[in-house]
Parts: sequence; C-alpha cells; structure tokens
Amino acid sequence: MSRNNWLLMLSVGVLSLTLISQAAHCADSTEQINNDSCMKCHKRNGKMQGHHAQDGLNLSCSSCHGEKGNHPKKPNNLMVFSADNEIPLIAQNAVCLTCHRATNLGKSEWTHNVHAQKVNCSSCHQLHPQTDPMMTLTAKQRSIECQRCHSVQR
Ligand code: HEC
Ligand code: HEC
Ligand code: HEC
Ligand code: HEC
Ligand code: HEC
Repeated sequence: MSRNNWLLMLSVGVLSLTLISQAAHCADSTEQINNDSCMKCHKRNGKMQGHHAQDGLNLSCSSCHGEKGNHPKKPNNLMVFSADNEIPLIAQNAVCLTCHRATNLGKSEWTHNVHAQKVNCSSCHQLHPQTDPMMTLTAKQRSIECQRCHSVQR
C-alpha cells in the first residue's frame, strides 16, 4: 500500500474516533465547564453539576471565580465564596447578582430582601452539587435552617 493510502486510512480512523467522542459529549450536557483548565488541579473539589454546569449556559469556572492570575500563589484575585475570608460579602454576592435579579429573588423567597446586603448567598446555597440543598427544603427543615443563625424567640 502506498504511503498516501496509509495516511488516508489513518485520517478516516481519526475522523470516526472524533465523531464517536463528539456523540459521547452530546450525551453529557455538563462536559464543557468541567473541561476547564482549572480542573487540572481541582478534579476532587471543583467539578460543577446542576443548573450552572449546563453547556447551554456557556459558563466557565472564571464566570464566577474570576481569572486565575497568580492562584494558587498568594496574593491573587480569585473570587472565593465563603463567609470566612477577607473578600467583602457585597463583592461575592455581586457575582451572583449579575445574573439573578434581587426583585425576582424576593418574590420566590422573601428573606432574600432582608439578607441581600448582610448574608453571603453561599451561606445558604451550594452551586457545585447536582442539587442545591436549599431547593428541596420542607417547611420544618426551612425553620431549622433559620435557627442556624437566628435564635428562637420564647
Ligand atoms: C496549579 C494548580 C491549580 C490550578 C490550575 C487552579 N487551582 Fe485552585 N487551588 C489550588 C490549590 C493547591 C488550592 C488549595 C490551597 C488554597 O486554599 O489556596 C486551591 C484552592 C482553590 C479554591 C478555594 C480557595 C479558598 O480560599 O478556599 C478555589 C475556589 C479555587 N482553587 C478555584 C480555582 C479556579 C476557579 C481555578 C481556575 C480559574 C483554579 N482554582 C485553578 C490549585 C490550583
Ligand atoms: C452567568 C449567570 C449566572 C451566575 C453568575 C449565577 N447564576 Fe445562578 N443561575 C443561573 C441560571 C441561568 C439558572 C437557571 C435558572 C432556571 O433554570 O430557571 C440559575 C439557577 C440558580 C439557582 C436555582 C437552582 C435550582 O436548583 O433551581 C440558584 C439557587 C442560584 N442560581 C444561585 C446562584 C448563586 C448563589 C450565584 C453566585 C454564587 C449564582 N447563582 C450565579 C445563572 C447564573
Ligand atoms: C438564608 C438563606 C438564603 C440566602 C442567604 C440566600 N438564599 Fe436564595 N434561596 C433560599 C431558599 C430557602 C430558597 C428556596 C425557595 C423555594 O423553596 O422555592 C432560595 C431560592 C433561590 C433561587 C431560586 C429562586 C427561583 O426563583 O428560582 C435563587 C436563584 C437564589 N435563591 C439565589 C440567591 C442569591 C443570588 C443569593 C445572594 C444574593 C441568595 N439566594 C441568598 C435561601 C437563601
Ligand atoms: C455559577 C458560579 C460558579 C461557577 C461557574 C463555578 N463555581 Fe466554584 N464555587 C462557587 C460557589 C458559590 C462556591 C462555594 C461552595 C458551593 O457553592 O458549592 C464554590 C466553591 C468552589 C471551590 C471550593 C470547594 C471547597 O472544597 O471548598 C472550588 C475549588 C471551586 N469552586 C472550583 C471551581 C471550578 C474548578 C469551576 C469550574 C469547573 C467552578 N468552581 C465553577 C461558584 C461557582
Ligand atoms: C447564614 C445565616 C443566616 C440564615 C441561615 C438566616 N439568616 Fe436571617 N439574617 C442573618 C443576618 C446576618 C441578618 C442581619 C442581621 C443584622 O442586620 O443585624 C439577618 C436578618 C434577618 C431579618 C431582618 C430582621 C433582623 O433580625 O435583622 C429577618 C426577618 C431574617 N433574617 C429572617 C430569616 C429567616 C426567616 C430565615 C430562614 C429562612 C433566615 N433569616 C435565615 C443571617 C441568617
């Protein structure tokens, strides 16, 4: 077989492999964000599932966490969502409020109105797991959740 025929067979092989793997990608609609270069180091704790991971939204890790910059060296400009770090909560919540309208949030859960400037969104919500625990609270669990920060009046 001539050299050209080998090259042809090889490229047909590569093409079909590419098609097969593209089909596999379509089946997994959260593939894109989890191929981000952040995942080189964050396979264990960085995987996104749930709403914000959908390929259709076209989010990258940096859409919320900002650019990597010096990270993990310090200092760096990475956005971290947690009550116990030096990034002001207003700056943390502002990331969420670029997409979520405060007025809509108040309609679905009235406490958003009193908390927006005072409590981290991430004190209640978890975005990385498949389901955010806040979205499936029963009435009883909801009142226990409030007592985590507010003492019960007697
Ligand atoms: C070279 C490896 C590496 C890369 C690439 C990397 N990280 Fe990290 N990241 C780390 C290490 C190590 C830690 C834990 C040390 C620490 O807490 O700072 C960490 C911690 C974090 C934390 C928790 C920080 C905290 O203070 O609790 C977040 C959030 C994070 N990384 C997000 C990202 C995002 C988003 C990207 C891509 C834009 C990224 N990382 C890329 C190594 C990396
Ligand atoms: C780039 C836009 C964007 C950003 C930034 C963003 N979200 Fe979202 N979020 C969405 C979209 C889109 C949905 C899906 C809405 C729907 O399906 O109705 C969603 C859904 C949610 C839900 C509902 C989840 C569920 O299971 O129903 C919560 C809670 C939420 N976001 C909280 C947050 C918080 C907290 C932050 C900041 C840490 C944040 N979001 C940042 C776009 C965004
Ligand atoms: C005190 C806890 C708490 C805090 C803080 C909080 N939320 Fe929520 N949030 C909830 C609860 C509880 C629900 C669920 C309401 C329900 O059951 O429908 C919810 C629902 C949502 C939803 C889904 C509502 C919808 O219309 O689909 C979004 C989006 C959301 N929160 C975003 C945010 C953002 C952004 C912040 C920060 C600015 C925030 N939340 C802060 C408790 C909280
Ligand atoms: C829609 C906003 C959003 C996007 C996109 C996002 N994150 Fe996060 N990330 C958060 C929030 C909020 C937290 C706080 C914990 C939680 O909500 O689950 C967090 C927490 C983390 C942590 C700390 C986990 C720990 O163990 O404390 C790491 C690491 C991280 N994210 C990495 C990533 C990587 C890597 C990507 C891309 C694959 C990514 N994040 C995409 C919002 C986001
Ligand atoms: C993560 C902690 C946290 C959780 C959980 C939480 N809150 Fe709050 N809440 C706060 C903080 C902090 C303030 C601001 C207090 C201040 O301004 O001194 C606040 C303020 C309020 C206020 C305004 C009046 C006041 O006391 O200042 C109301 C009402 C309220 N929360 C109701 C609720 C309800 C209802 C729930 C459960 C759905 C809840 N909170 C869950 C932390 C929390």
